[in-house]
Amino acid sequence: MVFNEDLTCLGGDGTPCNEKFLHAFKDVATLSAGRYLYALPLLWRLERFLNIGGEKRLRESIKIVHEFIENIIKCRIQDNESGREVDLLSRFIAASDENLENSLQFLRDFCIGFILAGRDTYTVLVWFYWLLSSRPEIERNILEEIKAIRNSNGKCIGDNYDLAELRQMHYLHAAISEAMRLYPTPTINTKVSQEEDIMPDGTFVGKGWFVAYTAYGMGRMENLWGKDCNDFVPERWLDNGMFKPESPYKYSAFHGGPRMCLGKDLAYVQMKLIAASMIEKFKIEVVDKAMCPEHLCLTNKMRDRLMVRVKERSMIVID
Ligand code: HEM
Repeated sequence: MVFNEDLTCLGGDGTPCNEKFLHAFKDVATLSAGRYLYALPLLWRLERFLNIGGEKRLRESIKIVHEFIENIIKCRIQDNESGREVDLLSRFIAASDENLENSLQFLRDFCIGFILAGRDTYTVLVWFYWLLSSRPEIERNILEEIKAIRNSNGKCIGDNYDLAELRQMHYLHAAISEAMRLYPTPTINTKVSQEEDIMPDGTFVGKGWFVAYTAYGMGRMENLWGKDCNDFVPERWLDNGMFKPESPYKYSAFHGGPRMCLGKDLAYVQMKLIAASMIEKFKIEVVDKAMCPEHLCLTNKMRDRLMVRVKERSMIVID
C-alpha cells in the first residue's frame, strides 16, 4: 500500500533482495529496542563508538533498509515525473513541497514509519486468532454477522468487501478492539517533558522528566473496565448491537491527544478485512490450546510463533 512493493512476507515470488530487507528490518527493530535493556546506556554507546557487537549489526542492517527504500523512492520520483501515482508514496511525493520535504531522508522515514505501523496490525491479529480459538461462541457471532452482511448484499464467500460492508461489522470491530484492550501494541509509551508542566490531576512534571503509561496495564484495570477486566468480552463495546467507542484516555491502544495514531481508521479497515476474509473461509485452531503465549515487553509480539492448524470451512464435516 505504501510503495506498491510486495515484501514477500508470505513467500510470494521472494527475491533475495526482499528477504535481505525483511531480515534487516526485523534486526533494526529488535536491536534498537534492545538498547532500552542495557543497565548502563553507556555500554551500547561504547559498542556504537567501537562499531562492535549488536551496534555493528544494527549499523549494517540500517544500511540495507535505507538502500532498499531509497531505491524505491527514486523509482517513484521518476514515476511521478511521468504523472503516475500508483501508491501512497507517489501521492505523497506529488503533494509535497519540493524544496523542503522531498528530501530522500524525509521520504525514507515516512516509509519506515508506515511499515512499522503496518506491523502493529498483524501483531494484533495473531493475539485475536489466539483468543478466538478458545471462544467458539465469539467466532460463531462473527461468522453470523459476516453471513448476514453477505446475504443482504447478495455476495458470496471470497468476494471482496467494500468499505460500507466493513463498517457494518460492529461485532467484529468490537472483538478486535477487545483483543487490543488485552494485548495492545505497543504496550508502553514514553514521552520526555520539554518543559515543566502540571498534569490534569495536579501532578508536577519537571523539565526533562520521563512520563510513561502502559496501555497493557490500563486495559486490565478493574476500576476502568470492571470485575471482568481480564476476560475477553466483545459485548462490552456494543450498545444495541452498535459499536460504542471508548475515550482514548481510557482505551489508550492508539494513544490520545494531538499525537494520536493517524492510521487508526485504516488499521481497523485492514484488520477487519483480513479477519473477515480469513474467518469466513478458514477455521484457525491453535495447536497447543493449554499454552499461554509469552509476549515481548515493548512490541507485544508473541515471543514464539503461534502454531495453528488451518482448515477450510467447506471441508469441515459437522456431526
Ligand atoms: C493496530 C494497529 C496500530 C496501532 C495499535 C497503532 C498505535 C499507535 C500509537 C500508540 C501511536 C502513538 C505513538 C506515539 O506518539 O507515541 C501511533 C502513531 C501513529 N500511527 Fe499508528 N497504530 C496502528 C496502525 C497504524 C497504521 C496502519 C498507520 C498508517 C497507515 C498508522 C500511522 C500512524 C502515524 C502516522 C502515527 C504518528 C502520529 C503522530 O505522531 O502525529 N498507525 N500509532
